[in-house]
Amino acid sequence: MSWQLAAGGWQSGFELCGVPLRGPVLNGSGTFDAIAARRAFGDALLEQFPFDAFVSKTITVEPRDGNPPPRLWETPAGMINSIGLPNRGLEGFLAHDLPQLVELPVPLVVSVMGFSVDELARLLSGVGERAEVAMMELNFSCPNVETGLVMGAEPEETEAAVDRLRPLTEKPLIVKLTPNAVDPAGVAEAAERAGADAVSLVNTLKGMAFDPRTGRAWLGGVTGGLSGPAIRAVALEQVHAVAERVRIPVIGMGGIASGHDAREFLDAGAACVAVGTENFRDPAAGRRVAFELAELQALPVRD
Ligand SMILES: Cc1cc2nc3c(=O)[nH]c(=O)nc-3n(C[C@H](O)[C@H](O)[C@H](O)COP(=O)(O)O)c2cc1C
Repeated sequence: MSWQLAAGGWQSGFELCGVPLRGPVLNGSGTFDAIAARRAFGDALLEQFPFDAFVSKTITVEPRDGNPPPRLWETPAGMINSIGLPNRGLEGFLAHDLPQLVELPVPLVVSVMGFSVDELARLLSGVGERAEVAMMELNFSCPNVETGLVMGAEPEETEAAVDRLRPLTEKPLIVKLTPNAVDPAGVAEAAERAGADAVSLVNTLKGMAFDPRTGRAWLGGVTGGLSGPAIRAVALEQVHAVAERVRIPVIGMGGIASGHDAREFLDAGAACVAVGTENFRDPAAGRRVAFELAELQALPVRD
């Protein structure tokens, strides 16, 4: 896997898990609504699509309304969200979202989350057999109601889940890791042992804010997930630790807002990067990051 710049663009033959990509910049799940962006920007979005692969927001088996408001809190260099995974559910996704997402000019990654391994199995079977879907991402930052453990927090829990899910689809499986684990690299190794094709990290860090007028938690969901440049150094350390321990590709994210930031993740051992919170500030951030990264790659190698 190479991300060197060749004359005229990214080296031909660049791929992730066997899926050809025109470059290494993805979006973080849940941070870019491609359907709303298409409504706002029309076909210009397709002509200048910001990412080299598109990761859907996480879907669940049943439809969800998400958490009560307020759902966002701005912090120095980041934000805390408590969105709570609102989505149409599996049937709604297949009927409404998928037909629109397949029109995007890049490979589609569908992100799924379940409250049990059985639910994840239903999602994988339901979505994984669709030819339009290039890869699946397992968002593992969720408690398993069968065991009470967060699936992606413990290596054993992760290995058992991926072991059961792996045979259910031939599509490449990306396991998204939570940074709120004692040993993210141990979890990554467990995912690799069980047959994951790639890992992505980091998801948001647990965070909280208080309303100064009431002294109560600001977010409707009480706690939330911290993202943005505030978490970049933590994410870089975790990507580095994971990349040292696994052979499968690592997709690095956490506060990437420029080509320089992306380059740091590649230097830490990531094969690809994803832009998340920065998309809310600049919907074209993915393209900008890709251009800036390409410019950096073209610079003479440092001693
Ligand atoms: C508003 C918001 C919604 C998110 N929704 C999801 C989601 O549905 N599934 C998921 O796996 N990660 C979700 N994430 C996490 C991001 O994909 C990403 O892992 C994280 O924000 C770190 O990257 P960043 O600092 O560049 O945003 C969400 C993040 C934000 C800020």
